[in-house]
Order: sequence, then C-alpha cells, then structure tokens
Amino acid sequence: MKPTDLRGILQYIPQFRERTFIISVDGAVVTDENFANILLDVAVLRSLNIRVVLVHGASAQIQALADEQHIKPSNLDGGGVTDAATLKLALTGANRLTHEILEGLSANDLRAACTNAVIAHPLGILQGVDHLFTGKVERVDVELLQTLLAQGIVPVIPPLGFDGDGKTYRVNSDNVAVAVADALKAVKLIFITTTDGLFCRGKLIRQMLVSELETLLEKNKDEFAAEILSKAQHAGAACRAGVQRVHVINGRVDEGLLAEVFSNEGIGTLIYANEYQHIRPAKKKDVRAIQLLTQKGAQSDELVKRTRGVIEKSLGDYFIFEIDKNPVACVALHAYAEHGKGELASLYVNPSHENQGIGRKLIQFVENKAREMGLNELLTLSTQAFTYFQSKGGFAEASPDDLPPARREKYDQSGRNSKVLVKKLK
Ligand SMILES: CC(C)(COP(=O)(O)OP(=O)(O)OC[C@H]1O[C@@H](n2cnc3c(N)ncnc32)[C@H](O)[C@@H]1OP(=O)(O)O)[C@@H](O)C(=O)NCCC(=O)NCCS
Repeated sequence: MKPTDLRGILQYIPQFRERTFIISVDGAVVTDENFANILLDVAVLRSLNIRVVLVHGASAQIQALADEQHIKPSNLDGGGVTDAATLKLALTGANRLTHEILEGLSANDLRAACTNAVIAHPLGILQGVDHLFTGKVERVDVELLQTLLAQGIVPVIPPLGFDGDGKTYRVNSDNVAVAVADALKAVKLIFITTTDGLFCRGKLIRQMLVSELETLLEKNKDEFAAEILSKAQHAGAACRAGVQRVHVINGRVDEGLLAEVFSNEGIGTLIYANEYQHIRPAKKKDVRAIQLLTQKGAQSDELVKRTRGVIEKSLGDYFIFEIDKNPVACVALHAYAEHGKGELASLYVNPSHENQGIGRKLIQFVENKAREMGLNELLTLSTQAFTYFQSKGGFAEASPDDLPPARREKYDQSGRNSKVLVKKLK
C-alpha cells in the first residue's frame, strides 16, 4: 500500500469512527479463497473504530449439503417454503459457516460472537401455501448487539431466526441485513456477493440515487438478473429505512471492500439515499487533489501541466465536483473582466467517473458563473476534447485572435497549438 492510499483513507476516519457498518456476505463468498482478505479488511475497519456486524447467508452450503445427501431442498434462500429436511440442512450449513467466520475473525485477532439477535415468527400461509419453517424477521435484539459492539466484539448473525418458544426458522439473509441495519441505524450496508454489483440490462450500475433505483425496479424489474434482484430490492428497502449508503460488491475481488468504502473509485454499485454530489469552490486543502487530477490530463497532453504554486495562485478560480466528499473532477474559470471574456480551463473528470454527465454539469456551472460576472463570452482551449465542447457544451470553433492579448501571448509561447473554442453569452 502506498502512503497516499493511507492519506486517502484517513480523510474518512472522523466520518466513520464509532459508526456501524453491516456487512452481509453470501454463503458462496465465505468459502471463496478471497474471504480471508475480506476478514482482513474487516480487521482494518475495526482498527479504525468502525463497528462491524457480519450477517451471512447459507444458500450455497444448503445446496452442497443437499447434493451430498441426495435431498431436494424445498428452497435455498429463505424466501420460499422451508420444509423440515431443508431446515435441517440450513441449520447444519449456517452453523458450520458461522463457525468458519468465527475462526477467520480469530485468526485476525478479532473478538466475535455468534448471536441469536433475530427474533422471527413463521412467515405463515401465503396464497394458500404454508411456508412451514420459513421465518419473517419480527424484531432485532438491539440491546444484545449494542452490548457486544460497545465491547469491541463483532456480532455474527446467521440466516436463522428464533422465537420465544425455542423454535428456529430459516430467514433470508438480505432481509436480516436490512432489519439489522435499520435497527442499529447503520451508516452503511455492504452486500458482498458473487457478481460485480447490480446490473440492469447487462450494464453495471456504478452509483444511483435510491429513487432512481426504485423507478428502475418498478419499470424494468425483468431487466435485473434474478440473482441480484433481491439485492436491488433490499438496497432500496435499506435506503428507505434510513441507511445512507448501500454497496453491492464482488467478494471474489481482492481489496474490494476497502476500495469500495475508502475510495471514490469503488468497484461495485453504490445506492445512496440522498443527493450527495455537488460543485463547490476549491479550498486550500484541495490543491493536492486538483494537482493530481490535472496531472493525469497533462500526462496524456490533454491539459497543461500546472505546478502547486500556479494552482495556489489562482485557487479562487477553481471549482471541485465532489461525490461523497471526494473530489472527482475540477474546472477553473479565469476571468479577463476588462475584455468581457472568461476562460474555462482545467476541466478534468476522473476516468472512474466519466460519462455520467459530470463534465457537462461543470461546463454549465462555469457558464452560469461567467454570466453572473457579466462576461460576454466564454473561451476554452482544447487539444483532444474540442468536439466534446462543440457537441455537448455548445461551443463553436474560434481563432487564437479571440483570446485576450495576455492570454494570446501565453498561447503562442506554449506551442501546444490547441484549438480555441468560444461560446457567446450575450
Ligand atoms: C472530456 C471530459 C471533460 C468529459 O467529461 P465527462 O464527464 O466524461 O463527459 P459527460 O458525461 O458530460 O459527456 C459524455 C459524452 O461526451 C463524449 N466525450 C467524452 N470525451 C470526449 C472527447 N474527448 N471528445 C469528444 N467527445 C467526448 C462521450 O462519448 C459521451 O458522449 P454521449 O453522451 O454521446 O455518449 C473528460 O473526459 C475529461 O476530463 N477528459 C480529459 C481532460 C480534457 O480533455 N479536458 C478538456 C480540456 S479543458
């Protein structure tokens, strides 16, 4: 790990310290060789004083046990009918898995405890079908979980529910995860599964506002692959219950968990409960981020290389596009007020966030600013994105003669031969 990665992580600490994350792991992930890395990541979260609750599923284990014993399970995920034989498989499968998780956490010096914190009742008879030993989460024993968390213990919750009469029911782990996240007022729910995130029409959803997800689910439910539909629905339910961020990531990818939580370049899908992106003026602490962003553009000759000093000098001209408090794009507006002209410069969108309309939003923002300042025209120079400015930003090709004299001089000196584009504002 590079020291810069650590700096990146440290900025999140005040935000997450003593907050609760619910990590919900599919059974198939627990037996994957990468699971040891996930537990290592859990240890990192714990070392940062983030409270972690681990919920797990058991479908894959139930299927494997059923194959071994030549039994046909009545249902795998705790959503359908659980007959007596399937409940037995679920008990064996889930308990083994819990044990494996406890072993893994011990290996990372983490204290953990298996819990009976999910209080369940029978799902009952639905449309004439008795669901037998399938349970419905009735309540979560918050006091039990909080007591463990306060002692630095990681509660492990199997997909089993208990009632007051000593009976056990098979419950769906996605359901449990949402109920626990709701009950503990978790700030994050992370579903660790075997796909790269939520897909709709074969396309990975990188990040989406919960209301957009709900519209998609309403209109295009069939376009979600069956295995992730439950995750999509439960992500929506969790956000509605007050969880701010729900992540869906692939548990077979190393560093997936930390990358998702501690970077703005998460690997999976993020569903968020509130609008969390905005444009703001750059502050002193952003100089490094601007330098890093524009450096990437400079390497491919898209932008002029700017030193820290140069950025600092005109910091008041810069604006940052922030997602979840992370700068992912920047732009600058240099005004030549005496000539009634402004220059849109240093537009750079981090490749991880391209094609989401961020560039367009920044152009629109700068254009509005320029109008507020009473400027007559907005200029921009580009070597590789001139068609972008023309087709998406409404700019037209102009000539270097349109530049204010001081800017023209710099243009000639640079030898970059950029195209000059203009947008009339009046
Ligand atoms: C050019 C850039 C700002 C676009 O940002 P973005 O947020 O990805 O763009 P948007 O989401 O607003 O628009 C995406 C559209 O622009 C198109 N586009 C992206 N880069 C383009 C380019 N260099 N030339 C032409 N079109 C481009 C995309 O194909 C997409 O088209 P579609 O909507 O028809 O599918 C970004 O790719 C970038 O930072 N590039 C490197 C730096 C640079 O060239 N900056 C400009 C010099 S000041």
